[in-house]
Amino acid sequence: MHCIKKITNDLTWVGANDRRLAMFEGVYSVPYGVSYNSYLLCDEKNVLFDTVDKAVQQRFIENLTEALGNRKLDYLIVQHMEPDHSSALQKILLLYPDVKIICNEKTLVMIKQFYDFDVKSRVQIVTENDTLNTGKHTLHFVMAPMVHWPEVMVTYDSTDKILFSADAFGCFGALNGALFADEVDFDKDYMNEARRYYTNIVGKYGTQAEALLNKASSLKIEMICPLHGFVWRKNLKNIISKYALWSSYEPEEYGVMIAYASVYGNTENATEILASRLRDKGIKTQMFDVSVTPASEIVSAAFRWSHLVFASTTYNAGIFVTMEALIFDLAAHNIQKRTVAIIENGSWAATSGSLIREQLSKCREIKILENMISIESSIKTTQLSEIDSMAAAIIATFPGSAAPIKKNSAPAASNIVQQETMFKLSYGLFVLTARDGDKDNGCIINTVTQITASPLRISIAVNKANFTCDMIIKTGEFNVSVLTESATFDIFERFGFHSGRNTDKFKGCDCNERAANNIRYVPKHTNAMISAKVVQPIDYGTHMLFIAEITQAFVISNEPSVTYQYYFEHIKPKPQAPKEGKKGFVCKICGYVYEGDKLPGDYICPLCKHGVADFEKI
Ligand code: FEO
Repeated sequence: MHCIKKITNDLTWVGANDRRLAMFEGVYSVPYGVSYNSYLLCDEKNVLFDTVDKAVQQRFIENLTEALGNRKLDYLIVQHMEPDHSSALQKILLLYPDVKIICNEKTLVMIKQFYDFDVKSRVQIVTENDTLNTGKHTLHFVMAPMVHWPEVMVTYDSTDKILFSADAFGCFGALNGALFADEVDFDKDYMNEARRYYTNIVGKYGTQAEALLNKASSLKIEMICPLHGFVWRKNLKNIISKYALWSSYEPEEYGVMIAYASVYGNTENATEILASRLRDKGIKTQMFDVSVTPASEIVSAAFRWSHLVFASTTYNAGIFVTMEALIFDLAAHNIQKRTVAIIENGSWAATSGSLIREQLSKCREIKILENMISIESSIKTTQLSEIDSMAAAIIATFPGSAAPIKKNSAPAASNIVQQETMFKLSYGLFVLTARDGDKDNGCIINTVTQITASPLRISIAVNKANFTCDMIIKTGEFNVSVLTESATFDIFERFGFHSGRNTDKFKGCDCNERAANNIRYVPKHTNAMISAKVVQPIDYGTHMLFIAEITQAFVISNEPSVTYQYYFEHIKPKPQAPKEGKKGFVCKICGYVYEGDKLPGDYICPLCKHGVADFEKI
């Protein structure tokens, strides 16, 4: 029985999910399954975008047959010839003998390699920027070589502003009834799988992925339809900004990934001590036993974190087998721009450390710290100072040569300030948080400005109607979390659209992080955190201006800060135009539209709770 999903009036998802596949491409575990996406565009001419893997061919044919109905299939666009998207090609030609295959020259070569049927007479070759008009829709072909195979191309529907992106922007994981990324908690439940998909499938080809991003940046894209995973119709910047980071090999976060290979637990023990030392200094850590965790997860984590530690016992006079495989895998995926520390172990003739160094030295922009630790069988008290030195050497390479402060650490240890944090400021949008007794609260502000460098002071302006303002007047302390372009509208709803006087704005929120001043901050969709103490409050009528001295500051991510303009263009929902012939008023805060000739004087926006003063006539 068919199971299709409507995307637009003209576009239907006719793909299928596979939850039985153990290893994608024979090497990547897919514990949450995988989707093979195929799309049918119905117009005066009907167009199918790619097919599916042979494992789900039957369901795909049922879906296509249902979505087509009595229509004829005119074109099959082959964007990618990897068999998980082209296995049903021959079946399509048998079922629809008049269908024309749209592809490029490289694809044609591959069709001939994979299949034996006569294809030449059935193919229409396209090149860069060629177009195909199907009636209402115009399709533009854009070559994307090596994202992920040389023949890959993507297609842009300029009518509906949809990018059919082939492997780009894909994700592991079956769709579980949803089709759009905004139907699920993508950051929480799928971002790891998106990162694992990108880094392992396309990671080697960062330059080519960047080239595709550059081409795409000139297009107005309102929806992305990849060959795996969810369709993006909202917050596209969320995934595009991740691709920009991943393809540039810049780390997403400052922190340390520790991968160890340990036969009897002694090498592991050394890494546990190192991780503990780093955590004591407030450094984020993630640890992997390379003999247990699939390499694809560790490769993915290596793309995420800024610092990598490899610890391996010596085995057969070389690197332990699983660690050796990981090191080669990372090099094959072009890992670069990382700081690396190495620990080796050997009961006699330790070699693993120098061999790891030799392999990683071939990678670009890898800084390997000098003070390698060499263990003989097990770590001894006398070597604890070496671990302390390694932790210090790692921390010394963090921005500003200072680690983020451990949460809730004593005030005496909380005076470290990273100068880079200042570079994250813009006329942008920020979550301002405060704490009074047991009450946590926060609001959105758009004015944070550095005033002086020595002492390092900022000013913030806060509307006096905000409960957070009252709390700061009382306590004299606050945190600023600098929001990024990946910020979603629900963050603005949570902190900006109601008062904390009668609600708990953190209820149901998974941001439980606190800075050294014990005030909460927002660790996601942000790139920096600043704690400050008020040195001068100035009353400006509707607003309070607080001049404050920074007591703690650290960078959270490399994502670009969101600007006020970006928020309005990309994050804030667009006002729905009132139905034809009707008049209305639009809320300037959240975009809600009230339909009617006259706005009642006491009207309150049902979405953001702002009054008539914030509405304007359409
Ligand atoms: Fe899902 Fe490169 O194919």
